[in-house]
Amino acid sequence: MSAASFFFASLLSLAVAGPASQTFIVQESLSTTPQGFTRLGAADASSSINFRIALPSSNVAGLEAALLDVSTPSSSNYGNHLSKDAVNAFLAPSDQATAVVQAWLSSHGLSANTSSSAGDWLSLSVTVAKANEILSAQYETFQHVASGKTYARTLSYSLPAEVADFIDTIHPTVTFNNPLSISPVLSVPKPAAQVSSDASSCATTVTPSCIQSLYKIPTTAATESSNSIAVAGFINQFAQKSDLKSFLKSFRTDISSSTTFTTQTLDGGKNTQSASKAGIEANLDVQYTIGIATGVPVFFVSTGDDYQDGDLEGFLDMVNFLSAEDSVPQVMTTSYGENETDMSKALAFKLCTAYAAFGARGTSVLFASGDGGVEGGQSQTCTKYQAAFPAGCPFLTAVGSVHGTSPETASTFSSGGFSNYWGAPDYQTDAVAAFLKAQGTTNKGLFNTSGRGYPDVSAQGENVQIVSGGSTEGVDGTSCASPIFASVIGLLNDELIAAGNSPLGFLNPWLYANADMLNDVTAGSNPGCGAAGFTARAGWDPVTGLGTPDYAKMKTAAGL
Ligand SMILES: *[C@@H]1O[C@H](CO)[C@@H](O)[C@H](O)[C@H]1NC(C)=O
Ligand SMILES: *[C@@H]1O[C@H](CO)[C@@H](O)[C@H](O)[C@H]1NC(C)=O
Ligand SMILES: *[C@@H]1O[C@H](CO)[C@@H](O)[C@H](O)[C@H]1NC(C)=O
Repeated sequence: MSAASFFFASLLSLAVAGPASQTFIVQESLSTTPQGFTRLGAADASSSINFRIALPSSNVAGLEAALLDVSTPSSSNYGNHLSKDAVNAFLAPSDQATAVVQAWLSSHGLSANTSSSAGDWLSLSVTVAKANEILSAQYETFQHVASGKTYARTLSYSLPAEVADFIDTIHPTVTFNNPLSISPVLSVPKPAAQVSSDASSCATTVTPSCIQSLYKIPTTAATESSNSIAVAGFINQFAQKSDLKSFLKSFRTDISSSTTFTTQTLDGGKNTQSASKAGIEANLDVQYTIGIATGVPVFFVSTGDDYQDGDLEGFLDMVNFLSAEDSVPQVMTTSYGENETDMSKALAFKLCTAYAAFGARGTSVLFASGDGGVEGGQSQTCTKYQAAFPAGCPFLTAVGSVHGTSPETASTFSSGGFSNYWGAPDYQTDAVAAFLKAQGTTNKGLFNTSGRGYPDVSAQGENVQIVSGGSTEGVDGTSCASPIFASVIGLLNDELIAAGNSPLGFLNPWLYANADMLNDVTAGSNPGCGAAGFTARAGWDPVTGLGTPDYAKMKTAAGL
């Protein structure tokens, strides 16, 4: 008898014996209602929940080792990115896990669909009554105070002992992700935009021209059509083609104003074209990729609100959608995120593994680090420094924000600090240790000294000129910095591909091994939680990372 059929048989006997004889093991729980939410009482028993069940990937350690092997410049396998099938072999659950979980669901009259190409995510719809029964849970309606939105969540859920080892996490259960994701804020009106290719003009008004000059970014067009940058769009933020055209007419007079992007949609996503539907974030992200990564194909991935990932706003759907494609974009930039504490550890780990899988296939995954300084994704009340998600995941590149030019100075809102979920990865242990030593006892007790430090790098993020809904305005946020850094990588990839080389893929081992190719930012800090926050210093720091791009030096470091 194989192990799978053994478990199957014992499950059936349990089902026959009835639930009373089952031993339930608490899988995940919270001690209190998360900050920002209130309890409104038991959830309607007949309402339905879209469950996502994560099965343990068979070889996460193998995937991480393979990722580092192809992403570390000193490795003989550097640049030998993995195929989708090779990555899926690491991600796939064991046959036993799939069989045990399906048998358990079946014993309750349920069945699940596979919802990821590797088979490590299952989806099904269940009623609240059924969810309470099979998970020994108490689903309640929780209201997110700031937005008024309500969600069915439980503070604890359990699994039969025979099943517990074969499930990483079930969502939605204990993750109270915030519906108000990171998005850029309009900056205080400043003098009218001037288009100057003088780097110092970035100190007052950030435009593509001054960015190109400041970061020595070529203005000539990229040539490789197989290269691409994916811009992730969420929460019904639409990128407007007419705004892009106006933007290019004002700020990139040297290229065709008809330069545009393609769109991919998921979860009923649309990309509605009308001034009233202009999304500041979406416009910013598209304008600062197309406007800087001259000639690099850009596609906007628009997630609709018909997401099936249990109110995770399409974060999980986006990952499963793009990873199912035969070829992945070489760069993916996302300016949305959460507070780390809002995500269950198991769910955060599963998503982080998915980002690692993109890196293994050759995608540079970039995320805005967050806009709450040491308070996390956004400003909040706190007594200890808070981390942001996914910035704290060590298998992606988190981008912080700076302003000014002489010198470039950390933005006070630039989220940075140390994860409580992930330890410092090898590629940054020396950089982090040097920072901690230099910092001494400052901030003692306010953060986790063993955590993964972020951001990794930074770029300009204040008074960045965009066109949205027909008008030109300035915006602030790490949301600006991520597409700018992504564009630099997109252009380097173009040159690498043209020279017959692999794209850069997961950047961090290369970045930390070549810290000198970045402009070290040593001024500014990110105060919060009633404390001074971290201070930018020589070398890596948890406000500006290793620093801002110098295209010429990065090009040399990339062997070009
Ligand atoms: C499962 O797949 C079937 C067939 O594609 C589909 O009709 C059904 O809606 C899916 N169920 C869920 C919960 O996704
Ligand atoms: C982080 O948590 C705080 C407090 O609950 C909330 O106000 C804020 O919106 C959250 N930020 C994000 C990006 O989810
Ligand atoms: C600190 O970070 C480590 C990861 O390095 C984690 O295991 C630990 O739980 C964190 N401590 C706290 C108090 O969150």
